[in-house]
Amino acid sequence: MRMVDLIAKKRNGMKLSEAEIKFVIENYMAETIPDYQLSALMMAVYFQGMDQEETAFLTKYMVESGDTIDLSAINGHKVDKHSTGGVGDKTTFIVGPLVAAAGIPVAKMSGRGLGHTGGTIDKLESIPGFKVELTNEQFIENVNKYKLAVVGQTGNLAPADKQLYALRDVTATVNSIPLIASSIMSKKIASGADSIVLDVKTGSGAFMKTLEDSRKLAEEMVTIGKQLKRNTVAIISDMNQPLGYEIGNANEVKEAVKVLQGENVEDLRVLALELAAHMTILAGIYPDYDKAVHELSRLIDNGEALQAFKNFVEAQNGDISVIENLDKLPSAAYHISVKAEAEGYVHEMDAESVGIAAMHLGAGRARKDDKINHGVGITLHKKIADIVKEGDTLATLHTDTNSNDDIIKLIQNAYTIKEQVIQKNTMIYDVIK
Ligand code: URA
Repeated sequence: MRMVDLIAKKRNGMKLSEAEIKFVIENYMAETIPDYQLSALMMAVYFQGMDQEETAFLTKYMVESGDTIDLSAINGHKVDKHSTGGVGDKTTFIVGPLVAAAGIPVAKMSGRGLGHTGGTIDKLESIPGFKVELTNEQFIENVNKYKLAVVGQTGNLAPADKQLYALRDVTATVNSIPLIASSIMSKKIASGADSIVLDVKTGSGAFMKTLEDSRKLAEEMVTIGKQLKRNTVAIISDMNQPLGYEIGNANEVKEAVKVLQGENVEDLRVLALELAAHMTILAGIYPDYDKAVHELSRLIDNGEALQAFKNFVEAQNGDISVIENLDKLPSAAYHISVKAEAEGYVHEMDAESVGIAAMHLGAGRARKDDKINHGVGITLHKKIADIVKEGDTLATLHTDTNSNDDIIKLIQNAYTIKEQVIQKNTMIYDVIK
């Protein structure tokens, strides 16, 4: 087999066989296929696509390029949840304890944030003392005991994806549905769960800006999951505005705890219940959606989900007194209002710009080794469909400097305010099974 023939085959729109995909991944990892040939193949895939079978084989060989986590020592049906990334997404802190309270073991590996989206691990580190690194034995023990553990990604999971992603990043080939689907699913499958619930975000703050593309990505990932013997469900959820009202690290943890305390942060609670419902159904805990939502709501309202969160934080060395007194979480030196310069109703929000504004404050990273400031962030006071008068506060910046003019402008420009009344956004667009 020659790589040049495979590049030509894909360039001409033909399908690659399992043996050919295996050859590509194995030889790329063995460094007998150079970056320039793989780049050419990625560009051919970008233009010609891959069918579902090719995408599943690509995923399979990326999984086989490294370790697979063995979760067999954890009792019960393990369900993982993964979000394709958004702004203000703190659902893991609600969904994790909620399904744990329902009796499902959640053994979760999460990432750090890069660019306009935050990372679960960074957010957890805003809890004083919280340890995101556990030994394998501790990880398994915590899940068996408390039904929930969240750690930073360890081990050599899907190293072919890591290398391929770095190459795609610099060759303008990230934005290809089969390549994104195989990249995400290779890591999820290597992480060892029996079932996977995917939160595919759609809109201005998401990877996929249109519902059509989000649906294609969701369908592709669900098919890969099934072909590789994992029950997989994808929820397509709104990311045309940040999720909830808080963007940052400590302030996102705070907002999630408030939902666990029973506060109705509407879009956040709705999405968390939706994701948790599908996780519990896949695990066979509840027979149907209505029963699942009913029982899970009860676990929030009776405090069991909040208790599960406290148990999880304590088991990973976190100071749980901050959960009882949220003001003890890190905070910023200055709190600056961003005022509206027009009046009417909020029609649109550029969620990505809000995420970038939070990153500039120090809540996220522009580069991989940037340091996170856990206390800074943004609180939104207005979201889509809200009425706004000139001079109203649109958002509050929590910042450690007093020169924030560019960030204030960025947030003001992220709002589109028009005269006509508008309806609230749909939160859940579709469920792909
Ligand atoms: N996230 C991933 O893990 N991979 C992609 O290709 C895109 C987003």
